[in-house]
Amino acid sequence: MQEHDRVRAVEWSGGVLRLLDQRRLPWEVTHVECRDAPATAEAIRAMVVRGAPAIGVTAAYGVVLAAADAYRRAGGQWRDAMTGDLETLREARPTAVNLAWALARMEVRAYAVAPDHDPVPELLSEAEAIHVEDIDANRRMGRSGASLINTGSGVLTHCNTGSLATGGFGTALGVIRTAWGDGRLTAVYADETRPWLQGSRLTAWELVTDGIPVDLIAEGAAPSLMRSGAVQWVIVGADRIAANGDVANKIGTYGLALAAHYHDVRFMVVAPTSTIDPETAAGADIPIEFREPDEVLFAGGKRIAPEGDGVGAWNPVFDVTPAEMVDVLVTERGVVHRPDAQGIEQLLG
Ligand code: MRU
Repeated sequence: MQEHDRVRAVEWSGGVLRLLDQRRLPWEVTHVECRDAPATAEAIRAMVVRGAPAIGVTAAYGVVLAAADAYRRAGGQWRDAMTGDLETLREARPTAVNLAWALARMEVRAYAVAPDHDPVPELLSEAEAIHVEDIDANRRMGRSGASLINTGSGVLTHCNTGSLATGGFGTALGVIRTAWGDGRLTAVYADETRPWLQGSRLTAWELVTDGIPVDLIAEGAAPSLMRSGAVQWVIVGADRIAANGDVANKIGTYGLALAAHYHDVRFMVVAPTSTIDPETAAGADIPIEFREPDEVLFAGGKRIAPEGDGVGAWNPVFDVTPAEMVDVLVTERGVVHRPDAQGIEQLLG
C-alpha cells in the first residue's frame, strides 16, 4: 500500500465479507461480517458501509454470497434462485448508482456461467476485478486531479470520499492525498457533514490515520472560510452524475457550490465513470434518499431537539448541484472542464 493510504473498508476473506463498521468510527475500529446477501444489503442500508463506490464493491461481493447460497439450495437452478437476493441488494439504497452498476456487471458475468457450474469462482473473480479497478481508477483520478491544484493551495472537502467510501484510496480524498503527497497543499479543511458526521467522524479519522493533518469546520463556516482566502478549491465526490453533468452528492454539496461560485473558489467533482448514469437525463430525475428524522433529532444517541410531536425533521441525505456550477469533473477516463451533456457523452465515448 502507498504512503498516506492505509485504510480499507471492504475485505473478502475465506468466503466472508468483512466490512469496517463506519457507524462506530472514530471511537471503535470494529468489523461486521456478512455471510449472505440479506446481511450485506442490511449493512449497506444501515450504513455500516457507505460511499457510492464502496457500496458498489460491497454489492458485488453480496452477489457472490447470493450465488453461493442459491447454488447450495437449487443446484442448476441457481440463477433463478438468487433473483430475490439481487432485488434485496438493489433496494438497499437508492441514490448511489454504483450499486445498480455493480449488480448489472455481476449479472452479465453470471449469465456467462453455464447453469450446471458452480458460479462462485467466476463471480468472485468479477467482484475482485470491480474492487481492484476501483482502486486503480482512484489512483488515476488522484494524479490528474492533483495536477490541477497549484502549490500553496488550501482545499475544502465534504462528507467522506476516501478509502472508507471506495474500494480504497478515494475519489476527492484521493486527489487530496495525492496533492498532499506532492507538497501542493497548505491546508486541508473538512466540514463536519451533518447529520451523520461523515466529515468529522470519518474523513478526519482517515486523514489522521494516514498522516495528513486536517482542520474541521462547522458546515455553516464554509462561506466565511472561502471569504478568508484560505481555500482555492472545494473538492467533492458524487453518488450519481446525470447525462447532462448534474451531480447528486451528500446534502450540503449544493450550498458549497453556491458559496464557491460567489467567492471565485474552484469546484472540483471527482468520480469514476461507474458513478455516471447515462440513463438519467438530468439531476431532477435522480432519486434522492430521505432517511429517518431521528438522524437530525439525535446526535451521539442524545436527543438535541425538544421532545414532543411538534418537532419533526426534513432529512434528504443528498442534493443536486447543477452542472454549470462544476468547474471540473475528474474521472479515470479523463478530465472534463465545465461538464455538460456533450462533454459527458464524449467522455463515455
Ligand atoms: O450517505 P453516504 O455517506 O453514503 O454519502 C456519501 C457521499 O455522498 C459521498 O460524497 C459520495 O458517495 C462519493 S464517495 C467517493
